[in-house]
Amino acid sequence: MSDQIATIGVVGCGTMGSGITEVCARAGYRVVFREITDDAVEAGMARIKQSMERGVDKGKLAADDRDAALGRISGTTSYEDLKTCDVVIEAVPEKLEMKQDLFRSLDALLPPHAILATNTSSLPVIEMAVQTGRPSRVIGLHFFNPAPVMGLVELVKTVVTDPDALEAASAFARALGKTPVVCQDRAGFIANLLLFPYLNNAVKMLESGFATREDIDAAMVFGCGHPMGPLALLDLIGLDSAFEILDAMYRQFRETVYAPAPLIRQLMTADFLGRKTARGFYSYEEAGSPRVRETGHHGRELPAGAGSHVRRVGVLGSGTMANGIAEVAAKAGYQVVLRARSTQRASESQAKIAKSLGKAVERGKMTQEQLDATLALLETTTEMDALSSCDLLVEGIAEELDLKIDHFRELDRVAPSHAIIASTTSSLPVIALAAATTRPEQVVGMHFFNPAQVMKLVEVVRTVRTAEETVDTVFAVGKKMGKHCVVCPDRAGFIVNALLFPYLNDAVKMLEAGYATAEDIDNAMKLGCGHPMGPFALLDIVGLDVSLQIINSLYGEFREPGYAPAPLLEHLVHAGYLGRKTGRGFFNY
Ligand SMILES: NC(=O)c1ccc[n+]([C@@H]2O[C@H](COP(=O)([O-])OP(=O)(O)OC[C@H]3O[C@@H](n4cnc5c(N)ncnc54)[C@H](O)[C@@H]3O)[C@@H](O)[C@H]2O)c1
Repeated sequence: MSDQIATIGVVGCGTMGSGITEVCARAGYRVVFREITDDAVEAGMARIKQSMERGVDKGKLAADDRDAALGRISGTTSYEDLKTCDVVIEAVPEKLEMKQDLFRSLDALLPPHAILATNTSSLPVIEMAVQTGRPSRVIGLHFFNPAPVMGLVELVKTVVTDPDALEAASAFARALGKTPVVCQDRAGFIANLLLFPYLNNAVKMLESGFATREDIDAAMVFGCGHPMGPLALLDLIGLDSAFEILDAMYRQFRETVYAPAPLIRQLMTADFLGRKTARGFYSYEEAGSPRVRETGHHGRELPAGAGSHVRRVGVLGSGTMANGIAEVAAKAGYQVVLRARSTQRASESQAKIAKSLGKAVERGKMTQEQLDATLALLETTTEMDALSSCDLLVEGIAEELDLKIDHFRELDRVAPSHAIIASTTSSLPVIALAAATTRPEQVVGMHFFNPAQVMKLVEVVRTVRTAEETVDTVFAVGKKMGKHCVVCPDRAGFIVNALLFPYLNDAVKMLEAGYATAEDIDNAMKLGCGHPMGPFALLDIVGLDVSLQIINSLYGEFREPGYAPAPLLEHLVHAGYLGRKTGRGFFNY
């Protein structure tokens, strides 16, 4: 326990208050939470018990520790019961006046040494601090949802915060087992300022009918390794909280990317607030339950026999993506012909695929016999005409439109008339490639993610001319390859990049503005949102040049001022600092 802090008060025991109460009690503090009615106290207590129960079921919390922690918690409707607390954290709804009233009352009640903390996600802490006679001991302690799980606490200091109070709060956060990151008092702090425009974009994407909620969520889970998709996350956060947070950010920055998508307000008005009311973007078994009610949605319904005529898959190209796709296709049992532009490139591809399969054997993911059988299915060539017996052709050459168009003409010439031609482009219009062929109905995007052997997602991009049978076939092939396919129209960025890259660009702008360091931003997104890596580590892996190109293509398509590439990103690209591949990007390697 951190020095002199023994008893914690929590005001509001909803989604966040109940989580914060649990965290404090599990760390050994005595906790008194205050709610407005007896029913709300009971409901708060039930939420805490349910959450601890889940911890016990998952083997993350011992039954004895649960009982001890529950013994340290009491609920009340009276402010008086908080008067001996050393720290009080408020987690009432995101409304400034409500929080200001509360801070005035708490200030009058609490001992002078007590620290007053707000869990606000987006409101100025200073405006609460000045309501009290102890503004220097008022800070932001921003926990993440679910509080018992997420490792980050943003520690918000204002212009009047006392360094000792900040240090005490920091030690307290560490005693709770959290990693504190100090932030300036600005709406959204680090994580939400980056997260909420992304969530909002996902809602706008759903609202425009671009993709289904399941596909949007699956794309971000399987394409980026996020623990949950944006719409499921909004349901967890609560749509009312999300609305208030976006609205507060909009009021501070006046940029359309923060203006809450109309659908959020509509759901809110219908009292569809997410998990807490058993319905938001999804329906849940009961209020507070994480279990989605059976929706009847099991992905695309494929006609019997879809894709069964595909036996031979041609892959055009010999780079990272082409090699990965060829490997995945051969592993799925297809005969594969990889066409490279030179004999040397062809034999390099052969060697790389063999090496990658060898690693799989080392890791016990496949047997030597399976490796031999896979390699026996793979042939490499430099001849275009060798692709003439393929049923499906996947193009994975450099991301240059004219080059791809030339190759599509060639593929169209050599491929049998029934063959489907797919491009794995991540940013070019598939329709421009389709138009270069005599079979636009059989042209589709098949956007794999890097490394194709590992990443489960394939975005199937349908142009205005793609036939449904083509989409069905590609889905069936993707499924046989063990991939999760989602379908989306032919628009810049498809699903994943259209949601991911504006977020990455925002992170660069935040760094450029000097608001936080690259390490702090990466930590905030990893610990606060459970992302497998932070935005800068990811940009360095993707390559800053490739990222800039994708951001430019999104900016060109949507003309959204907020999507304009961050000048710092452009400068780093000009300087040749392209990320891991050049040994330097946002970090040094
Ligand atoms: N939901 C999230 O993911 C999340 C994450 C971090 C921070 N926050 C912030 O946490 C705060 C609470 O959000 P939430 O999602 O937990 O909201 P919530 O609606 O789930 O809970 C708010 C609770 O406060 C209670 N309450 C209202 N006035 C009160 C008062 N005067 N005294 C005691 N209790 C009172 C309500 O009865 C309700 O139970 C907001 O500032 C929000 O921005 C939310």
